[in-house]
Amino acid sequence: MQTPKLILRDIPNLNKIEVYLENGGFDSFRKAIATTPDDVIDVVKKSGLRGRGGACFPTGLKWSFMPKGDGIIRYLACNGDESEPGSFKDRKIFEDNPFQLIEGMLIAGYAMQITAAYLYIRGEYHKQYDIMQAALDEAYARGFVGEKMKETFGTNFSMNIYLHKGAGAYVCGEETAQMTSAEGYRGTPRIKPPFPAQSGLWGKPTTVNNVETIATVPAIFRIGAEEFSKIGEPKHCGTLLFGVSGHVNKPGVYELPTGTLLTDIIENYAGGVRGGKKIKAVIPGGASMPVLRADEIEGLPMDAEHLKAIGSGVGTGGIMVMDEDTDVVHVARRISHFFHHESCGQCTPCRAGTGWMEKILTRIDEGDAVKSDIDLLISVAEQIEGRTICALGDAAAWPPKWFAKKFRADFEKKCKDEIVRTPKNIVHGKQNSPESLQYIVK
Ligand SMILES: Cc1cc2nc3c(=O)[nH]c(=O)nc-3n(C[C@H](O)[C@H](O)[C@H](O)COP(=O)(O)O)c2cc1C
Ligand code: SF4
Repeated sequence: MQTPKLILRDIPNLNKIEVYLENGGFDSFRKAIATTPDDVIDVVKKSGLRGRGGACFPTGLKWSFMPKGDGIIRYLACNGDESEPGSFKDRKIFEDNPFQLIEGMLIAGYAMQITAAYLYIRGEYHKQYDIMQAALDEAYARGFVGEKMKETFGTNFSMNIYLHKGAGAYVCGEETAQMTSAEGYRGTPRIKPPFPAQSGLWGKPTTVNNVETIATVPAIFRIGAEEFSKIGEPKHCGTLLFGVSGHVNKPGVYELPTGTLLTDIIENYAGGVRGGKKIKAVIPGGASMPVLRADEIEGLPMDAEHLKAIGSGVGTGGIMVMDEDTDVVHVARRISHFFHHESCGQCTPCRAGTGWMEKILTRIDEGDAVKSDIDLLISVAEQIEGRTICALGDAAAWPPKWFAKKFRADFEKKCKDEIVRTPKNIVHGKQNSPESLQYIVK
């Protein structure tokens, strides 16, 4: 079967507006505005599109949460923060198909009757920011965006699009933190409810969608909702942009139908493991998703439902491949360092827990830990999960927990046996001094 390419369309120079227009550019928007906003939401619902930002929430349903009626200011926030280690697929959209993203924002804007959209681009994506700004300037100049679009498309609808350079923190990808950041404050998450559709940017109803989600929308109108829903897995249809990194011969972004086998992606698209080595572990959807062992990836289709069924997640589609020589303890420690560094510090379980997990992992990695420290690590992770304002807490807890659970033998190999404190080691009168802590290693 021919692989459908909906975003990375293999058309040379598609990032030039002339080429985009020659290939049906803005025709999807034209189709959309020939119907009512509610019709557009119905098409997206019917397509079965689920968000590509990690949580796989149904997009049409999300759009339907926006309050309707005249006189309400509504915003669209397009999330291009892309700061999770292992995720680099939105970058490819900025580079290769910026106008499809702009067109997707216009369709989303029309569906929810939005007058201003913000595209939040990861702070380190300087080149991609410039590409998007140039594309936007071109779209404005040709009357595809802003007030002039009324004339161009013969419609009453118009929308402005603004770019916002990210603040350089992973947490700014979390939807409420992103809005706080875009408003000009330090990007810290807000407690939900209220949800963005009730109170978002500047307190107004806002829809937050990932860049890939929005860039997929024009393709739905191009091929039709029904056709789209037939691609890939029925419950999570369409294509996904899989970003493959790690010990593979051809790291890169591959657009494939949902449900493509993970081994197929690694072997046939990413060129297999470097040096012909065996796989030891794979993180299937960005650093926060629970790691999989080699024996778990055989015959595993890459979509939300199959990944959920084995206790992981398709997340952002960032596949990180580790070969048989990988020191998984060191990987877990490195990931833990990232999340500790990125915690915004608002909630104690995340602020303190990420630090504790990194400390314990450092101890294990450097051979200074005992075997019960592995259980301590898992216990700290489990005390963070579900107890924080935003999902960064869960994201931080899962890697240490699942690396430790799935690769316990590797962890134990780096640990000493238990330490027993015996009475004869306690120096009387100095119970709290270093001399009193004379342990015997069994
Ligand atoms: C710590 C953290 C970082 C996130 N980073 C991103 C990101 O970079 N891009 C993104 O689209 N979603 C990110 N998300 C998810 C967003 O909060 C939100 O769910 C998403 O943008 C919704 O888009 P979708 O419905 O199109 O998937 C992040 C979530 C958390 C908790
Ligand atoms: S979970 Fe962590 S990042 Fe999220 S709000 Fe709490 S402290 Fe901040």
